[in-house]
Amino acid sequence: MTIISRKMTTATAGASLVRKMFEEGARLRASLGPDKVFDFSIGNPDLPPPPVFQKTLARLVAEARPGAHGYMPNSGWPEVRAKVAAHLNRTEGAGLKNPFTADQVIMTVGAAGALNIILKAILDPGDEVVTPRPYFMEYNYYADNHGAAIVPAEPGPAFRLNLESIAEKIGPKTRAVLINSPHNPTGVIYRAEELAALGRLLTSAGQRHGRPIFLVSDEPYRKLAYDGLKVPSVFAAYPYSVIGTSFSKDMSVPGERIGYAAINPDLPDHQSLFNAMALANRILGFVNAPSLMQLALADLLEESVDIGLYEQRRNILADGLAGLGYQLTRPEGAFYLFPRSPLANDDDFVNLLKEENILTVPGRGFSLPGYFRICYCLPPDMIKNSLPGFARALAKAKG
Ligand SMILES: Cc1ncc(COP(=O)(O)O)c(C=O)c1O
Repeated sequence: MTIISRKMTTATAGASLVRKMFEEGARLRASLGPDKVFDFSIGNPDLPPPPVFQKTLARLVAEARPGAHGYMPNSGWPEVRAKVAAHLNRTEGAGLKNPFTADQVIMTVGAAGALNIILKAILDPGDEVVTPRPYFMEYNYYADNHGAAIVPAEPGPAFRLNLESIAEKIGPKTRAVLINSPHNPTGVIYRAEELAALGRLLTSAGQRHGRPIFLVSDEPYRKLAYDGLKVPSVFAAYPYSVIGTSFSKDMSVPGERIGYAAINPDLPDHQSLFNAMALANRILGFVNAPSLMQLALADLLEESVDIGLYEQRRNILADGLAGLGYQLTRPEGAFYLFPRSPLANDDDFVNLLKEENILTVPGRGFSLPGYFRICYCLPPDMIKNSLPGFARALAKAKG
């Protein structure tokens, strides 16, 4: 007889495919040597944080400012939130009636913490959250944490938003639509026109069902955009919008668990949503985001790792695989590529790649079988050296 809950019995049995691959990678590296294993499985940034991050931390530690390691408001240090609000006014304030203030910003334990406080604040048991496939599978758990469920919508051509499918999936139980741009696993960046059309759809669907539908935007990859693209803001597209983001990917500090949630200042009654999210931060057990990290990142809001290095890797991998005959949508951001599996069964193809010591994740791990995900958090030489293995696996698949 199991001593754990039924829910966690099911959850642990289906433990994430990405994690499984990560563990497989560690095992292979130990037996074959690190340069023989091409571990494209997990989105763990390999670039070091920019040197200014360590310098800022060292300065803060040396300052030993009174109270710096103490409790604070559950939403985070007010001066940190004010700096984030000023940053949002600079970068995403265009087209809004009201400016961001510290009262629309809550510091969180990464983007995951941000999404959980947002969902805790808006979801009742039985509610539904519509999200386009493919999607980051942790969303299933995040919705379930608050008694709600994810309802997947189908992707459009080249993984763009499929408004028809989203409209079809929206019903009386829909409380939110959850999007992610730049997108894991496809690297797609939604355009301003797509977001505006989604905003119009949600406005009319909310009116029809008698309650607003929130647009929750998961944006930890916002700064990872290529080809000169700028990630359009959801705020101007729709007033009932909330973002969750983090410094995990653009500053290479995922282990430090620091991010924030921001509420659209044009959202009617944004104060009650802020209060609910701040309380959620406390009662979900986060209490508040790590103090020193809040203070450090508040001074580094315009900083990031060299995004050009990821773009260079994107080019090597996307050009290399397309040249070999893989079918893929060229990623516009983030650090993932989501090619079509040359075999109908993506698990089988991922296994063929594994025979070449190339670790990837099957599309079913993102609720879209028939594809596989490659995370290019690897040095350019490793990516180049993996291409012959990709070629051999494709040749075997074509038999
Ligand atoms: C789409 C997406 N959302 C959220 C997260 C969680 O980010 P964080 O580590 O900042 O909580 C990840 C991490 O990989 C992600 O890929």
